[in-house]
Amino acid sequence: MQNYQTQIQSSSKKFLDELIDFLSFPSISADSQYKEAVTQTAHWLEEKLQALAMDEVKVFPTSGHPIVYASKTVDPEAPTVLIYGHYDVQPPDPLDLWDSDPFTPVIKDEKIYARGACDDKGQVYMHLKALEILNQNGPLPCNVKFLIEGEEEVGSEGLPDFVKNHKELLEADLMLISDTSMLANDTPSITVGLRGMAYMEVHITGPNRDLHSGVYGGAVDNPINVLCEMIAHLKDKDGRITIPGFYDQVYNLSQSERDDLGRAPFHEASFLNDLGIGAAKGEKGYSIPELKSIRPTLDVNGIWGGYTGEGSKTVLPSQAHAKISMRLVPNQNSEKIAELFTEYLQRIAPPTVQIEIINHHGGEAAVTSTDSIGYQAASKAFEKAFGKPPIPTREGGSIPIVALFQQELGLDTILMGFGLNSDNIHSPNEHYGLFNYFKGIETIAHFHEILAEMKRS
Ligand code: BES
Ligand code: MN
Ligand code: MN
Repeated sequence: MQNYQTQIQSSSKKFLDELIDFLSFPSISADSQYKEAVTQTAHWLEEKLQALAMDEVKVFPTSGHPIVYASKTVDPEAPTVLIYGHYDVQPPDPLDLWDSDPFTPVIKDEKIYARGACDDKGQVYMHLKALEILNQNGPLPCNVKFLIEGEEEVGSEGLPDFVKNHKELLEADLMLISDTSMLANDTPSITVGLRGMAYMEVHITGPNRDLHSGVYGGAVDNPINVLCEMIAHLKDKDGRITIPGFYDQVYNLSQSERDDLGRAPFHEASFLNDLGIGAAKGEKGYSIPELKSIRPTLDVNGIWGGYTGEGSKTVLPSQAHAKISMRLVPNQNSEKIAELFTEYLQRIAPPTVQIEIINHHGGEAAVTSTDSIGYQAASKAFEKAFGKPPIPTREGGSIPIVALFQQELGLDTILMGFGLNSDNIHSPNEHYGLFNYFKGIETIAHFHEILAEMKRS
């Protein structure tokens, strides 16, 4: 079996230069000002995929941002790996907290700094470069398909339709995704669970205009006060979400399932220290790793209203707004949860205000099996590249396509992520370790070879 390290080493400058190019595009899916940049990024990827001698490369328009698709069949008997990822990125703000420009990649201390470096451009690009390495050694071991979308960070709204309308195009033996993290560079892991999501927006309107807070204050309800009070009512003193029915469908893990997951190393002191917090906070009765993976959450993502400019302004505002998301766990349904949230807030809103609730997007939680041939191949690939078998872990983030593919295509997913929790994804100074980038390429190359071999035997 190849070891690939020498090959990767001799292409390392080229592989980094290309990643720098990829990271230079401001492919911010949330901001319509960048629509053109998002489309340009899709076409850049199209070109890079064409350079890999794919049979077919195509950019599909969607209701939102384009999907990049590619496929190559080497042998109808070989397994087909569908590689999913996203080329869109989160908005970079707050900009003043970055040490360098988010779209001018900088290499410092063996890490590459840019928005999307880890989530997910750096991890997507490892897959293209792994195929480039494999191509140098002869025909690819597996058939491959790529589905790289441009609106994962805004809820993948165009994706369900695309999947339903192109089932044949997406036919594969398994889906492979690098868009998660591992425990540490010397503790490889494979993600076997992700949370779902229900993302809501709340608008509260009180009086029909902003008022002088002295002339009217005291007699007219303040929408910001109301909103804060309502939000404070969404959790009880034990950290449990109070929306009636919220926990009804939650899958509660057995003690032995909890023990299994509890075996992954976790250091509370360094967790707290890294974040600069004095204590953790969450639902009573669960450990920190459990709270951020197998339990549902409710968090305010943003809240605004009234005067926030310089100095002071005495105003009783007409409106208040909040964006609130809930992370969901297996068996909860995002549509159902959005309904329960809406009903409850409408019910507890006082008669002094009007309330409007928008259901932005949702997705379901997913759990993947450790028994599949794909997982076994991934496990061996990690062992070969890292010298240690990977630990199965559940993570708290969401990748809605995983559940969608299980439902629509019955396809198993392997979550082979190489990021670290300390990579600052969605945050200023996002970065990705060069070790992780090159190790990822190596591990992926092993995966294709091992999977093909396992299918043959
Ligand atoms: N790559 C992340 C998800 C992730 C991060 C999973 C770390 C596991 C570990 C993805 O790009 C992401 O941010 N997803 C959104 C989904 C949402 C917009 C539906 C999320 O989790 O907030
Ligand atoms: Mn991602
Ligand atoms: Mn993300």
